[in-house]
Amino acid sequence: MESKISQREQWTSKLGFILAAAGSAIGLGNLWGFSYRASQGGGAAFVLLYIFIVLIVCLPVFVAEMALGRNSMKSPLFAPVELGGTNWYPLGILFFIAPIGILSFYSVIMSWTADTFFHIFFFGLPKDISEAENVFKSISGGSSVLLGHLLSLVLTAMIVSSGIKKGIEKVTRYFMPILFIILLGLAIWASTLSGAWEGYKTFLLKFDFAELKNPQTIRNAFGQAFFSLSLGIGIMVAYASYLSKKSNLPKLSFGVATLDTLVGLIAGLITFPIVLTFGLSDVISESTIGTLFISIPSGLASSGLAGRIVAIVFFGLVFIAAITSSVSLLEVPVSSLMDKFGYQRIKSVWIITLLIFILGIPPALNGGVLETLISLTDVLLIFGGFLVTFFMGWVVPRRLDSELDDSKVGTKTVRYLKFMMRWVAPPIIAFGLLISIFELLKGWIN
Ligand code: TRP
Repeated sequence: MESKISQREQWTSKLGFILAAAGSAIGLGNLWGFSYRASQGGGAAFVLLYIFIVLIVCLPVFVAEMALGRNSMKSPLFAPVELGGTNWYPLGILFFIAPIGILSFYSVIMSWTADTFFHIFFFGLPKDISEAENVFKSISGGSSVLLGHLLSLVLTAMIVSSGIKKGIEKVTRYFMPILFIILLGLAIWASTLSGAWEGYKTFLLKFDFAELKNPQTIRNAFGQAFFSLSLGIGIMVAYASYLSKKSNLPKLSFGVATLDTLVGLIAGLITFPIVLTFGLSDVISESTIGTLFISIPSGLASSGLAGRIVAIVFFGLVFIAAITSSVSLLEVPVSSLMDKFGYQRIKSVWIITLLIFILGIPPALNGGVLETLISLTDVLLIFGGFLVTFFMGWVVPRRLDSELDDSKVGTKTVRYLKFMMRWVAPPIIAFGLLISIFELLKGWIN
């Protein structure tokens, strides 16, 4: 079991890494998932729990994943073995398989985004909710979704096959600033809507203490935090393995987590005003995975040409965010396959892409399969997060020490991080994991 890559690429700069990692983190999870889950209930309590989990649990996981990647300088498949011995190969295998599973449905939702974009671009907005529902049905069914799934994957594959510097880093360097500008523009526009204040209140101020104890809200907040930060399945292991030994891991993690959380919140400040201005609360309260694709276009229809432009810009934004995330999901199995068999990058990319395309056919054609995969993903990410922190905090603590000591952050921060990684994060993650498994099983039984 040895790795076959001798030469590793490196990010050209710290900023290159931050934009790529933020590009991975910021995606459908922020722009579609955050609003989808926030509207499933929980209100402001959901938002608060989410922020708490990011700060207390996810930051240590983030640092643990990065330490694992940079210390081993191996692909996620081999990193745990490199540090902890062959007993830890199953963790590497989890890192290899999970992103393949996630990308197989992620690209289906990317395909809805692209189709919605083109539909609005060429044919305009649907006149009312029922027309919007019909449009969504045609977009998310049959050959159109398969074609979209295929094209989204091919685009992702083309970027990943160009490598770290010329592919992923270059694309994220262009796309991320565009994304931030569009996002701010949309948030300013949303603040001028008549229902803006109502929207903010619903999103941020409707606080119900009981929701903090609601298992569904807890599970949603955990799942959302891990999914949104791309944690638990080796993405940051892969990205950090291309970092120079000089970079400061805690500082980088904090920067990426802050950007990601801000984007999630700003997305809420866009979608909630739209929903409350155009009286879409009923659609949202029965929130399904398609809600965003139905409510936003039908809401904006009453604003004529301006609404159409906003909708085009919005779905363009979602697609840009999604593509910088999907490349990170593909990079993990691709670099692992290169590491395992000594394949060229291009060969690895196309083998894995074909596999993902085939695996994505069932969720593309069946909404039930898609929803099951999404809820399984939450559990998987939380489980992976638990293993990574446990591994770095308890199994190979010296490796963690050497990564943190190299980081040149103050000794207080280092001590705090180690304490969190060993004593605080694992039990809280275990708690979140139990609740998520319980909720998953409950959903299946009902
Ligand atoms: N974080 C991305 C989003 O919010 C999706 C994503 C990319 C992801 N890589 C991941 C989710 C790894 C879980 C694990 O859309």
